[in-house]
Amino acid sequence: MKNIVVVGAQWGDEGKGKVVDILAPFFDIVARYQGGHNAGHTVKIGDRKFVLHLIPSGILHGECDCVIGNGVVVDPAAFNSEVEELRLLGVECEGRLFVSTRAHMILPYHTALDRAREKQLGANSVGTTMRGIGPAYEDKAARTGVRAGDLLYPDLLREKARACIERANRELVAAGAETLDEERTLDEYMNEADRLTPYLRDTASMINRAVRDGKSVLLEGAQGTMLDVDHGTYPFVTSSNATAGGAATGSGLAPKSITGALGIAKAYTTRVGGGPFPTELLDDTGAYLQKRGNEVGASTGRPRRTGWFDAVVVRYSVMLSGLDALALTKLDVLDEFDEIKVCTSYKTRDGLIEDMPYGANALAECEPVYETVPGWKTITSGITSFDELPEAAKSYVRMVEQLCNAPVALISTGPERTETIIREESLVSEWMK
Ligand code: IMP
Repeated sequence: MKNIVVVGAQWGDEGKGKVVDILAPFFDIVARYQGGHNAGHTVKIGDRKFVLHLIPSGILHGECDCVIGNGVVVDPAAFNSEVEELRLLGVECEGRLFVSTRAHMILPYHTALDRAREKQLGANSVGTTMRGIGPAYEDKAARTGVRAGDLLYPDLLREKARACIERANRELVAAGAETLDEERTLDEYMNEADRLTPYLRDTASMINRAVRDGKSVLLEGAQGTMLDVDHGTYPFVTSSNATAGGAATGSGLAPKSITGALGIAKAYTTRVGGGPFPTELLDDTGAYLQKRGNEVGASTGRPRRTGWFDAVVVRYSVMLSGLDALALTKLDVLDEFDEIKVCTSYKTRDGLIEDMPYGANALAECEPVYETVPGWKTITSGITSFDELPEAAKSYVRMVEQLCNAPVALISTGPERTETIIREESLVSEWMK
């Protein structure tokens, strides 16, 4: 049995898209289990760069089926436009892409509420992607949401959605925001949403049946551990469980059937949106990382905040998701530094801590304790074998392994699929059989 979950080990944008793209050919099904079109997985098709927001990156590999699991929130307009873009690139989705009937839908009022609430929060805003993600998950938890399977009962769906829009309009009025015209919104929405119908399936049964038949599943996480609604820097988080536990609830695959977990971590750290970030660099070094690493949000185009590698964060992620191995991405971005810093613990009012403290306020007060190591000052871009890395880069990787309690099985040395080191006799090399 080979069913692996891929998790972001920091604040998202670690390069999960590239890693999933490498692993997908060795799996029968690639399934998303949480988040929505707030994610942005940049993949390259020939000379073209393409950003997938909602559809699993596995879609680019004709041999695997793709699933949007019950834990995902689906915006039909975003879904349709991705399907259309893929079609123009010669990738057909119908018959290979399946959407859970239990996945909740993002309606236009969710997006309107997301915007209105962020505006009201002002300086304390979460910095959401404004895609309606939080409000859609709120409806799910409040038991007032619309699910993809409701498309099979259009009259009931309209009735439910109408009540939701009425309720949202009351909040929008109170917030001084523009309200939605109920019937027009519904008509437009149903036009888009109807196109989802051929993709609907009981995906939990589908996945479990495939596993019973000896097939393998790659569970593709979105965002990252520190954006997990339970374990992240709450309230500066997304509204779903990005950690490995979410893969079981969000796909319906029984936890005991998940056989491995791979964490993706950048060789430094980035974050988009608000919230604490202990190793953030607000100086020239941070600006350099931003430019050299091309750190611009794939979904929103916002510049990403940058900082040194934080081993407290990744160690926490290894613990929470039981990560068997790490993929360390963008190592080449550090090529030119004389010295590189790694945060090993935090200094607090009560002394040194090595574990994640409770709450965003406490984390904001933490001061990173750094270990400084020599840089390698050698171009590593495109290197495909660990032995070819300069000694200082090898030491850096080993330090990450030691501090984070997990082996580094894959190292990314550039954006291309080929610019990758797969460590020999590692779990990743096992999974690629
Ligand atoms: P939301 O998911 O749009 O509600 O945004 C909540 C927080 O998660 C914000 O700080 C976003 O910037 C962040 N976020 C959401 N999706 C991603 C992602 O794919 N990568 C990085 N950050 C994300």
